[in-house]
Amino acid sequence: MFDARNISLRYGKHLAVDDVSISVGEGECVVILGANGAGKSSLLRGISRMAPIDPAGRITLRGADLGAVPAHRIVEEGIALVPEGRGVFTEMTVEDNLWLGSNPKRARADNETRRGEILALFPRLAERRKQRVGTMSGGEQQMVAIARALMSNPDLLFLDEPSLGLAPIVVKELFATLTRIKESGVSMLLVEQNVTSSLALADRGYVLEAGRITSEGTARELSSSSVVMEAFLGH
Ligand SMILES: Nc1ncnc2c1ncn2[C@@H]1O[C@H](COP(=O)(O)OP(=O)(O)OP(=O)(O)O)[C@@H](O)[C@H]1O
Ligand SMILES: [Mg+2]
Repeated sequence: MFDARNISLRYGKHLAVDDVSISVGEGECVVILGANGAGKSSLLRGISRMAPIDPAGRITLRGADLGAVPAHRIVEEGIALVPEGRGVFTEMTVEDNLWLGSNPKRARADNETRRGEILALFPRLAERRKQRVGTMSGGEQQMVAIARALMSNPDLLFLDEPSLGLAPIVVKELFATLTRIKESGVSMLLVEQNVTSSLALADRGYVLEAGRITSEGTARELSSSSVVMEAFLGH
């Protein structure tokens, strides 16, 4: 469904993403595992057109070339990004953050129904509809960021380290929610350092080290790979 070929991205002379090719199948959840500084966020920003990539790179969604689509139109094409650090509007209520997510044309027609479905997926947010997001816990704010992305009616969700900084119990809850989103048919590309939880959710994955893909395989293959486990779990 989604295909990114030969993606390179640089900051001045520093090559942060080095000729990376990845794909996501229809309904699939794909994880990109990588340590701090591996280039995970840069890759996500590059393929969501938020940051410029080298001209050799090709990005397609269901065969349509996204190369000429500006960043602000990507959401209309059906891709929603939950960015690193969440990017929620802390001065606004949960409800207003969600309404902003439903601004794209593709989401406007049935946004009332969708809002109901999404609040059913996040009961905590339903209880706190009127609460200012800045007063909420990290886990709740992450839920707001994901719920807002879902309000745009995406076919494909990009998530940049959603579990970062959350307590283990909250991480468990987050991954349970991501499982339900996957079951609803939304395809996902997830960037994570939490190897165990993300390989339990994902169908397939890639390992990114210093800007390059060094391993790839099914989640089962990566889970049983001593190379991957050594790189991330230190044994
Ligand atoms: N705006 C920038 N200007 C210069 N260098 C940058 C910039 N953003 C990232 N880098 C560098 O590019 C490399 C990849 O960074 P990136 O943020 O993509 O990694 P990451 O895998 O997302 O790391 P983390 O897990 O810490 O979020 C790093 O060496 C980083 O220092
Ligand atoms: Mg990052």
